[in-house]
Amino acid sequence: MKIGILSSGGDCPGINATIRGVGKTAVTHYGMDVIGICDGFQGLLSKDFIPLDDKSLSGLLSLGGTILGTSREKPFKKLLDGDDAKPQAIIDNYKKLGLDCLVCIGGNGTQKTAYKVSQLGLNVIGIPKTIDNDVYGTDVTFGFHSAVDIATEAIDRLHSTASSHKRVMVIELMGHKAGWITLYAGMAGGADVILLPELGCDINKVNKAILNRAKKDRPYSIVAVGEGLELNGGGSKSSNRVSRLSKLIEDGTGLETRETILGYVQRGGSPTAFDRNLATSLGGHATELIAKGQFGRMVAIIDGKTTSVPFEKVAGKLKLVTPDHDLILQGKRMGISFGV
Ligand code: F6P
Repeated sequence: MKIGILSSGGDCPGINATIRGVGKTAVTHYGMDVIGICDGFQGLLSKDFIPLDDKSLSGLLSLGGTILGTSREKPFKKLLDGDDAKPQAIIDNYKKLGLDCLVCIGGNGTQKTAYKVSQLGLNVIGIPKTIDNDVYGTDVTFGFHSAVDIATEAIDRLHSTASSHKRVMVIELMGHKAGWITLYAGMAGGADVILLPELGCDINKVNKAILNRAKKDRPYSIVAVGEGLELNGGGSKSSNRVSRLSKLIEDGTGLETRETILGYVQRGGSPTAFDRNLATSLGGHATELIAKGQFGRMVAIIDGKTTSVPFEKVAGKLKLVTPDHDLILQGKRMGISFGV
C-alpha cells in the first residue's frame, strides 16, 4: 500500500511526532510506502510531496512545527458556487500519486475537509491536532498539553511582577472559540479571575472579585482570558479586546492594570512528553486502521482509550467547555471568579 500524509491548519507541538508515528509503523511494521504531502491540501492540489522513509522519519519526535509545512487551503470552499475544479484535482492527484489512503492531520476544519474528501470516494483517515483542544469526538488533542504548559509558565511569571507593583495583569490566551487552554492554564497557574468564551463575562463581577482581593490585602490579581471572549465594544482584534477589558478593570477598580497577549509562543517548540506519546499512539492507530481497510474515520481518545470515530459523527462540530466542568466547579468553591 502507499499512503500520503498531510498536515493542515495551524501548526502545533506534536505534528512531527505523529508523522513519525504513522510513517514508522507503516514502513517498519506493514511494509507500506509513505509520502508526505507539502503544505496541507495545497500540496495535494499541486502534487507537491516528499518521500518519507526510515531515515527521513528519524529525529522528529521532539521537533516542533511540521516538516511537511501547512496551509489553511480549503478545497471545497468554492463548491457552493458550483466550482468543482479543486475537488476534481484532488481525485486526479490522489490517483496520479498512486495513493491507497490519505492521512489528514488537523483540527476541526481539516476533519471537515477530510470528511468531504472521503465523500469523493477516496480512502481517508483523520488525526485530530490542535492546541485549542476543541475537536469534537476525542477527549484530548495533542498540542493542548504543550500549550497549557507554556501558558501556565507565563502566568506563573506574571505573579511576581503583579504583586511587586500591586497591579492587575490581564493575560489573553489562545483557543479560538474554546476556553480549554484558558481554563487549564488559568487553574494551573493560580489565576484569580478566569474568563471563558463559553461563559461570557459580567465586568461588574470581575471588578468585584478583584476589589474583594484588594480588601483582603491583595491589591494584585491575575485575569486569564480566552481570545474568543466577546466583550461589548471590544472588537475582533486581540489587542483592542484586551485593552478594552484592561481599561474596564482599571476604571472599575482604580487599580493599575497591564496586558499580555501570549500569542504564538503557545503553538511553538517541542511537544511535552504527554503529547509525544499521544501523537505516537494516534499515529500508530491510524496506520493500523489503514492496514485493516477501515477508512472514513478519525482516530480519537475516548475514556482514555485509543480508538476511532466515523467522520460523519464529528465533522463540523465543536467541543467546548461546559459550565459543569470539574475545574470550574472546584475553582468556584475555592473563590476563583469566572466572571459570571
Ligand atoms: O487553532 C489554533 C490557533 O492558534 C487558535 O488558537 C488561534 O485562534 C488561531 O489558530 C490563529 O490562527 P492563525 O495561525 O491563522 O493566525
